[in-house]
Amino acid sequence: MFKEYESRAREILAKMSLKEKIGQLNQAVMPCEDEASKEAFRKRLRNGEIGSVILSLSATAGNDEQKAVVVEMLNDLQKTSVEEGPHGIPLLFGRDVIHGHHTVLPIPLASAASFDPALVTEAYRDVAEDARSEGTNWTFSPMMDICRDPRWGRIIEGYGEDPYLAGQMAAATVKGFQGEDLKDPDSILACAKHYLGYGFSEGGRDYHRTELSDYTVQNVVLAPFREAVKAGVGTVMSSFNDISGEPVTSSKKYLTDILRGQLGFEGFVISDWYSVQQLIRQGIAEEYEDCAHHAINAGLDMDMADEHYSRFLERFVNEGKVSEETVDTAVLRILCVKLAMGLFENTYASPKKVDRKAHIERAERMAAESMILLKNDKNVLPFPKKTRAALIGPYTFERRGLHGSWALDGYLGASTPNMAEAMDDVVAKEGGGCVMVTGGRLNDDSNYIFSHSDHIVLALGESHEDTGEARSVSDISLSPAQIELCKKARLTGRPTVGVVFCGRPVCLTEVEPYLDAILIAWHGGTRAAHAAVRTVFGDYNPCGRAPVTFVRRTGHIPLYYNVTCSGREVNGYYGEGASNCYTDYAGSPLYPFGYGISYTSFEYSVPVCDKTEISYDRLVAGEGFTVSVNVKNVGERVGKEVVQLYIRDPKASMMRPLRELKAFAKVEIAKGEEATVTFEIGSESLGFYKPDGTYVIEKGSFEIYVGPYSTSTQRLDVKVV
Ligand code: NOJ
Repeated sequence: MFKEYESRAREILAKMSLKEKIGQLNQAVMPCEDEASKEAFRKRLRNGEIGSVILSLSATAGNDEQKAVVVEMLNDLQKTSVEEGPHGIPLLFGRDVIHGHHTVLPIPLASAASFDPALVTEAYRDVAEDARSEGTNWTFSPMMDICRDPRWGRIIEGYGEDPYLAGQMAAATVKGFQGEDLKDPDSILACAKHYLGYGFSEGGRDYHRTELSDYTVQNVVLAPFREAVKAGVGTVMSSFNDISGEPVTSSKKYLTDILRGQLGFEGFVISDWYSVQQLIRQGIAEEYEDCAHHAINAGLDMDMADEHYSRFLERFVNEGKVSEETVDTAVLRILCVKLAMGLFENTYASPKKVDRKAHIERAERMAAESMILLKNDKNVLPFPKKTRAALIGPYTFERRGLHGSWALDGYLGASTPNMAEAMDDVVAKEGGGCVMVTGGRLNDDSNYIFSHSDHIVLALGESHEDTGEARSVSDISLSPAQIELCKKARLTGRPTVGVVFCGRPVCLTEVEPYLDAILIAWHGGTRAAHAAVRTVFGDYNPCGRAPVTFVRRTGHIPLYYNVTCSGREVNGYYGEGASNCYTDYAGSPLYPFGYGISYTSFEYSVPVCDKTEISYDRLVAGEGFTVSVNVKNVGERVGKEVVQLYIRDPKASMMRPLRELKAFAKVEIAKGEEATVTFEIGSESLGFYKPDGTYVIEKGSFEIYVGPYSTSTQRLDVKVV
């Protein structure tokens, strides 16, 4: 995909001086808007010192306030680079357009909960169009760090604990950003990050070390990167962390041998912010002037923000520490990507009017599809609209929080309706009911509205400021004030739903007994409030599923479904030994991976396979088998079910997980109707990677589970002989 541009790239390279080549490897921080800064920047462009600009002024862009992009400024810089720079090479403008631009989609963790890759692609096409029309041509997204520790604030940015689901979502997002063709003026270049293992930060502490075996790297953390590369992602961002003592920034093993040798990645690698310089703290580089050669020799092509390449690479080449060929290789990769994007022909941003209404509608659909109904005792939901509804809780008037972290251009929520407004629209205006609202806390007003209401909506959650980069927490429970609120609501005896706006699978153990219904609404973006209210009052039937495990206690972390079997019965996930893994509290999850309920119910037939055995030779030659199940909607309304297929290889040369998601299908089924879901299973679902990266399928029996979530028990067996 990118290599086809190599001969054109070589023609350009042949004319470049070493200094100019190094300039292509440098991503500089955007200038301030004053004329002096801009002119200083232009001067550097004229000298060919800059290949890309990061549109952010600070390291933790996800929570710091960021300046909006000024398209005229970008076009002005681009013009300087192309018309006055040494070889007419256009700039890449990179920005953290993570889950939306002006219209904010639900956080990526929530999009994984939708289990709907096609919708994700559609929604991210909107994001690409929106961002590109304002000059951003490169986003540092998607983030695909598998995470088993929800204390880590950055869990919001990824797709949860499962490698298969994360792979599907990563590919869907890349397709959304990059479109069918990177040359499409509505496409932007995507960046698969953080390569590699950052989601395993010890203790959930951001920027911390990770301890990972090659076996886990190969089978868990690499999986989504494989899919992103297959989907044609143009860039990869290396991560801050080390893996068992080896900083990724300076690791030839990860950046070259595995990423290029094994995954076949053809685009270019960018560092994370200042991570080249970080090699000093990590004990690899001796001093400030000693960092850059470690990174480029490992295979890191572009340096983000710290200007170590631009300052020191020339000297390293002259001293023989870095070969000019190494520099050339990196430059060629970058030029190939720029050529593949058509930037030499379609160079400038031409602001266009995007169809904001369509984007907003899609954002609401995404939000609704990602919300998870975890509890609905006595089918209290949906509430009738013609009611006296009480709304209370910290998310009653919150706007910015609905966006979540990493929503740089959502304009601080100015066009984002809050829960009070959404209730007013849906219940009062559309439904003819009445809404009583008070502030976030318990007080005399809340006591009054509690006792005069028929139904109670508690707008709960965690602040977006406790999520994202550098925002880990040591306790993932809801605040004591919110627990009090739930207790108080329970005393009224009124049907009560807790709508939880969160960036992680918060611990719900303390509130669960006091709530009749629980809806996880996530940090759901621009339309989170309407999607949540329309779900509670029945316009939408919930259909999201948990992309991560909901633990009973923070102390149970890590707890994930695709664990290997322990030597003794201490694994509480599947009920086995649930009480003896901890003496003080049941160790099973509160809600397992894949879980979520609907306003209707589904009945599964016994799954059937078209073969009881298949030969190894046929399997590796590309044959497979099918597993089918009938799912009937036996409830009272149309609904969507996520049919999930898990596989276990119980006897193998290495211990394999108790279950692994290998396929899923989200199907809409009308009331009383039945759908047949057929999965095609081939060699890619039955094997695993050895620690050295070889993929093996081992003969023997495989257990196949088909059902509505990870711990469901309908099983059939297939033999590979
Ligand atoms: C640091 C973050 O780790 C990364 O995800 C982000 O893209 C860069 N900063 C740029 O803001």
